[in-house]
Amino acid sequence: MATVQERIRALKTKHNALILAHFYEDGAIQDIADHVGDSLQLAQIGEAASQPVVLLAGVVFMAESVKILSPTKTVLIPDPAAGCSLVDHSPYDMYLAWRREHRDALCVTYVNSSAEVKSITDVCVTSSNAEKVLAAIPKNRQILFGPDRNLGRYLALKLKREMVLWPGACEVHVLFSSRRLFELKAKHPHAIVVAHPECDEAVLQYADVIGSTSRLLAEVKTNPAREFIVATENGILHQMQKARPDALLLQAPAQGSCACNECPYMKLNTLEKVAHALETLTPEVTLPGELIDRSKISLQRMLAISRGEPVEWPSRFNG
Ligand code: 13P
Ligand code: SF4
Repeated sequence: MATVQERIRALKTKHNALILAHFYEDGAIQDIADHVGDSLQLAQIGEAASQPVVLLAGVVFMAESVKILSPTKTVLIPDPAAGCSLVDHSPYDMYLAWRREHRDALCVTYVNSSAEVKSITDVCVTSSNAEKVLAAIPKNRQILFGPDRNLGRYLALKLKREMVLWPGACEVHVLFSSRRLFELKAKHPHAIVVAHPECDEAVLQYADVIGSTSRLLAEVKTNPAREFIVATENGILHQMQKARPDALLLQAPAQGSCACNECPYMKLNTLEKVAHALETLTPEVTLPGELIDRSKISLQRMLAISRGEPVEWPSRFNG
């Protein structure tokens, strides 16, 4: 009998499908994917793909980004319940009310948000291009930044730019414990601490490198150190350990008795669900055409700035 991996490969060929996986997926899913990447890379690769079917093993907002950028493609997600606490923390009606309170400001929204929220956003960012995008915003414009308060605060401090922050957070990254990280660092004084900016400020103060998942992986690949403490979701250790079999990789400790920080949404996806999605071409991401047209603007502006192209900014929010 064929293994699940063999079934997936056969179905991929049958439907001319592309499989994309985020770094937080289980290692077995990463290993079957055509590309493994951070949220920006997955959106870019998904948009540029020539295949008519894209299966995105990640969370729903990532698959929605591919659908918004490439509406004619069939975009599959292994489990439609794979949400994100940042999406849950930024309901459309509340975000719209916040946006209306600051009509002259530009609204910068992390891609970890719903398509509806993107549709009332001036420009999206990911953790790998946020600095570049913010640098492109005229200095005389007030900035609203949501929904991740930790990423927003980190960027505001780094870029010395005041921003009005939405109070959302990632339920996974806020669970890292600064006290236990301090103790671990004392036991491993030569370890390089790499952290995702969704972590609390108290954790980030111990980080040698702060960045997106791809930035943290690049650091582990290229830094000659032999020990690393990794303050992000544990799925990324798969690629890190493959790249650095010689290095000791320790996930930063979580608060309480929790042994590791896993994203419960990312981990809903399984190889069986990937195979099922390719067999049935469901669950498919579907969005109303009008919502796609409105949410595309903020994503396309982000991608244009990432490519170094100039963009025009609206003078005020009229929604
Ligand atoms: P990256 O854009 O760094 O891959 O992060 C996505 C994410 O959801 C982090 O929790
Ligand atoms: Fe969302 Fe946090 Fe999971 Fe990333 S790790 S997908 S921000 S809940």
